[in-house]
Amino acid sequence: MSVPFLDLKRQYATVRQAVRSAVDDVLDSQVCIGGPVVEKLEEALRALTGSRQAIGVSSGTDALLASLMALGVGPGDEVITSPFTFFAPAGCIARLGARPVFVDIDPHTFNIDASQIEAAITKRTRAILPVHLFGQMADMSAIAAIAKETGLAVVEDAAQSLGATHHGQAAGSIGTTGCFSFFPSKNLGAAGDAGLVVTQDDALAARLRAICRHGASPKYFHSLIGGNFRLDPIQAAVLLAKLPHLEPWTLARQQNAAFYDAAFRDCAAIDTPLVAPENRSVFNQYCIRSPSRDALQEHLDAHGIGNMVYYPLALHRQPCFAYLGYEDDDFPVANRVCDEILALPIFPELRHEELEEVVAAVKMF
Ligand SMILES: Cc1ncc(COP(=O)(O)O)c(C=O)c1O
Repeated sequence: MSVPFLDLKRQYATVRQAVRSAVDDVLDSQVCIGGPVVEKLEEALRALTGSRQAIGVSSGTDALLASLMALGVGPGDEVITSPFTFFAPAGCIARLGARPVFVDIDPHTFNIDASQIEAAITKRTRAILPVHLFGQMADMSAIAAIAKETGLAVVEDAAQSLGATHHGQAAGSIGTTGCFSFFPSKNLGAAGDAGLVVTQDDALAARLRAICRHGASPKYFHSLIGGNFRLDPIQAAVLLAKLPHLEPWTLARQQNAAFYDAAFRDCAAIDTPLVAPENRSVFNQYCIRSPSRDALQEHLDAHGIGNMVYYPLALHRQPCFAYLGYEDDDFPVANRVCDEILALPIFPELRHEELEEVVAAVKMF
């Protein structure tokens, strides 16, 4: 039996009617930019993340970009972030002419090692951009303490962690802004690109709203230079229709993770992911580690077991960042994790026999 890494069609079958009728309502209304559906989604996610303000945006990437723009990050500035993540955070920092300053990761949570952040702060540092990877928040207690002491802004990349908590506080709600992605494979996925920024700061929220509309406030009067970073109402309608399912889907992901944890407990050859006791992970991914990752991946491929490598090359080694001047062996933990990590299927609709098949294939290896 082969097992898909992710099968979005199974999920769509459970929400098809609600999604189609919500999208139809938007089309019938012909309110195709902004409007009540976007506002309703913003309000629902504002409440869910325990934030004062929520602003729908065009993607998770644009949530990060708009946040950095609203904070005034630009040429000559430095922003501290993780070298082990999707490209977007470092890419957005660099696009604004600022410098991504990488800090190595914690080998257990794969998130930025907060104990190394202070050493990376210089006079040019403007912000810290932690990424809550694979569904688990970075050490936001430590990061918030550093921010308080230094006055630095914190942009939380919570693209993979809607619904995650740290000491009971929701992802996105602790930093200066929190950025979410609704890329279709995320825990809450749109039918295309979509994102959200949350903040507790009303003035910053007003700035963010303007930046998402070419810096206009009111319309056609531009005190800022922004972009077109608006969330489509059709995407908002899809997300609203799916939102009531988010918690049950998260519980199913957590149950799948618990099944793997128990099944691999006696497998000395692989490390299962560690969730810090103060964290609630929403398991956007379930990533194991093996020193023989490439051979394990070949074995799983040969047995039809879906798997993915997130991420094969740390950001300081990407050709486009050669100008930053890092050495390949800077950030040894990130490099090692890139060589050893492998994501297994974790999506909520996985069947029990599929989970057993994945475990059997890994154990056979
Ligand atoms: C950690 C992280 N940050 C940012 C993004 C960017 O989100 P988007 O694809 O919606 O632009 C993603 C996902 O794609 C992500 O995983």
